[in-house]
Amino acid sequence: EIEVEYLKTGLAARTASLAKGYDAVCAFVNSDVGTKTVEALHEAGVKLILMRCAGFNNVDLERAKGYGMTVTRVPSYSPEAVAEHAMALALTANRHTHKAYIKCRENDFSLNGLMGVDLYKKTAGIIGTGKIGMAMARICRGFGMRVLGYDMYPNPNNDIEYVTLDELLAQSDLISLHCPLTEQTHHLINRESIAKMKDGVILVNTSRGGLVNTEELIEGIRKGKFFAVGLDVYEEENDKVYEDLSGTILQSSTMARLLSFPNVMVTSHQGFFTREALEAISRITLENAAAFEKGETLVNEVTK
Ligand code: NAI
Repeated sequence: EIEVEYLKTGLAARTASLAKGYDAVCAFVNSDVGTKTVEALHEAGVKLILMRCAGFNNVDLERAKGYGMTVTRVPSYSPEAVAEHAMALALTANRHTHKAYIKCRENDFSLNGLMGVDLYKKTAGIIGTGKIGMAMARICRGFGMRVLGYDMYPNPNNDIEYVTLDELLAQSDLISLHCPLTEQTHHLINRESIAKMKDGVILVNTSRGGLVNTEELIEGIRKGKFFAVGLDVYEEENDKVYEDLSGTILQSSTMARLLSFPNVMVTSHQGFFTREALEAISRITLENAAAFEKGETLVNEVTK
C-alpha cells in the first residue's frame, strides 16, 4: 500500500527536508532536483525519486546514483497530447488565431495581419523521431505534408524519411523540435542553424527551452527569417512556469520581447496537459512506486 502526502510547495533544496519519513518524493518538470536537493533528499532518507514527467534534465542523476537512489519517470503518457499541441502552436502562430480572436471580440472584422501560409504540400522537419516526434509526423502527413526526420539514433522501424540535420534545416517549411535536452542538443537552434533554414520557416518547440538559443532566435525573428514561431517551452521558464505572475513586474525582458512579435505564439509548458495524459501519468507513477516497493524490475528507471 502506498501512502501519499500532498504538499503545496514544490520540490527544491529548501523544501527537500519535508520528505523526511517518506521513502519517495514525486517531482515534476518545474521542480529543482539539482545537486543540493538530491543531497537534502538523501539526508531525509528518501530512496526513490518519482518523476511524473518524461524529461529528467532537471535531476542530478549522477549524485542520485552516487547515493544509491533510484529515479523513475513516465516515459510516455500521451505522445499525441504534446504533438497535437505542437501542431496547434504551428497553426495558431501561422494563421494568427490568437489575434483573430481578440480582433473579433473588439468588432474588428478586418483581415489585417492575419494572412497565413498553407501547410498542404509543404515539408515538415521533425528533429527527434521518438514517440512525440513520430506522432507529430503522422499529424503532418494528415495535413498532406512531406515529412523529413533527423535523429541522432535513427530508428529503422520508423516510417519516416531520415536526412541529415543540415538537409532537414535547408528543406523544411515547418521545423518541430522533439529531441531531449542534452549536452549535444543544448542550443541546437542557434545563429548558424537558423541561417541554414529556409526563409519564412515556421519553428515550433514543445520539447525543452534549452534547445533554442533565445537571443539568437530573437535576432532571427527581427531579421524576418521566420514566418511564425510557436514556443511551449523556453529558457528561463523554471522561474515562471505554472505561476500566476499577472500582478508582478517581470524582471527579464526576453519573454516581453518574444511576445512583442506578431508572429510568435507562446504557451507555458502545457503540451502534456490533457485529461488522458494526466490519468496515464498518475497511473504509471504509482505503478513505478509499487514496483520499487515490491523489488520488481523497474522498466521506467533512469538511474540504471
Ligand atoms: P523519446 O525518447 O521517445 O524521443 C526522443 C528522440 O530524440 C529519440 O528518438 C532520440 O534518439 C532522439 N535524440 C536524442 N538525442 C538526439 C540528438 N542529439 N539529436 C537528435 N535527436 C536526438 O521522447 P519523447 O517522449 O518523444 O519526448 C521528447 C521530448 O519532449 C522530451 O525529451 C521532453 O523534453 C519533451 N516533452 C515535452 C512536454 C511538454 O509538455 N511540452 C511533455 C513531454 C515531453
